[in-house]
Amino acid sequence: MNPPRVLLAGATGRLGSAIREDLSGRLNIRPVSRSGRMKTEAFDLLSSKDREKLLGQDFDLIVNAAAISEPSECVLDPLKSWRLNTLWPRRLAIHCAAQSIPMIHFSTDLVYSGGIPPYTESSPAVPSSLYGWTKLIGDIFVLNRYPEALIIRTSVLCGEVNSTKTTFSQDILAGRVRNVYVNCWRNHTPIHRLAGILPDLLERSFSGIQIVAGKYAQSRSAYAEELLRNAGKDPSGLILTYAPQNTPSKLHLRGRTMLLQLI
Ligand SMILES: NC(=O)c1ccc[n+]([C@@H]2O[C@H](COP(=O)([O-])OP(=O)(O)OC[C@H]3O[C@@H](n4cnc5c(N)ncnc54)[C@H](OP(=O)(O)O)[C@@H]3O)[C@@H](O)[C@H]2O)c1
Repeated sequence: MNPPRVLLAGATGRLGSAIREDLSGRLNIRPVSRSGRMKTEAFDLLSSKDREKLLGQDFDLIVNAAAISEPSECVLDPLKSWRLNTLWPRRLAIHCAAQSIPMIHFSTDLVYSGGIPPYTESSPAVPSSLYGWTKLIGDIFVLNRYPEALIIRTSVLCGEVNSTKTTFSQDILAGRVRNVYVNCWRNHTPIHRLAGILPDLLERSFSGIQIVAGKYAQSRSAYAEELLRNAGKDPSGLILTYAPQNTPSKLHLRGRTMLLQLI
């Protein structure tokens, strides 16, 4: 039997690259990105012509890892973020529903306020950033248009990946990030474990919102210190600091299924 034909949007990004790396042997992945770097095909998902050209082709599964994923970038161009993080997933959901093909869309723990942990799939989501709002409303549109779609809410991606961007752990290990928050808890998530679990989720027909993230919440500073120590490096160069006031601080996740347990 031929492997399923998969459209992977966001294939040059952190998660897209991990998915490609880990699943290319099992799936017939068609990798697309905005830039066309890293042997992907260039499709600008903000262009209706490109979108319709792409969706005019046949796929057995669509995975959406394309996003404006940096909160700071969303603030610089709110309209672009809304179009990519919110309207593009909605368009995909309409397409996948019409074609009756599975859809996996990635979302974030930053849809939650970070004030009343732990967060489950049914916790009220009230983001504190524009990024969080674009993702939350994207999730709502997807569910509304295609309840059978799978929306994976995850947290800070960590691990080695060959992408146009780097993960938090790569930044810490390379010394690019030294300021780490002592008062900000996240479920740091092993990116390859997350990528590797996708075929299983599909086989088991998961749908709706699922939290899939690292098992334990840890402060960003504690995670960074442990990471450096485990790599035989001295963590004393880290600068322990408090997060800016609007940063969600207690984002402990507790998924309702075993899917959370990625460590
Ligand atoms: N990074 C994290 O720690 C984290 C945490 C929680 C949730 N998530 C979620 O996980 C998903 C993947 O995040 P990520 O960190 O892997 O993202 P990323 O590294 O920022 O990658 C974004 C991808 O989107 C593509 N893209 C951007 N604008 C586009 C456009 N106009 N047309 C087509 N493609 C476009 C980029 O292509 P180019 O490279 O060509 O620009 C790139 O492939 C997102 O939904 C994000 O919200 C991420």
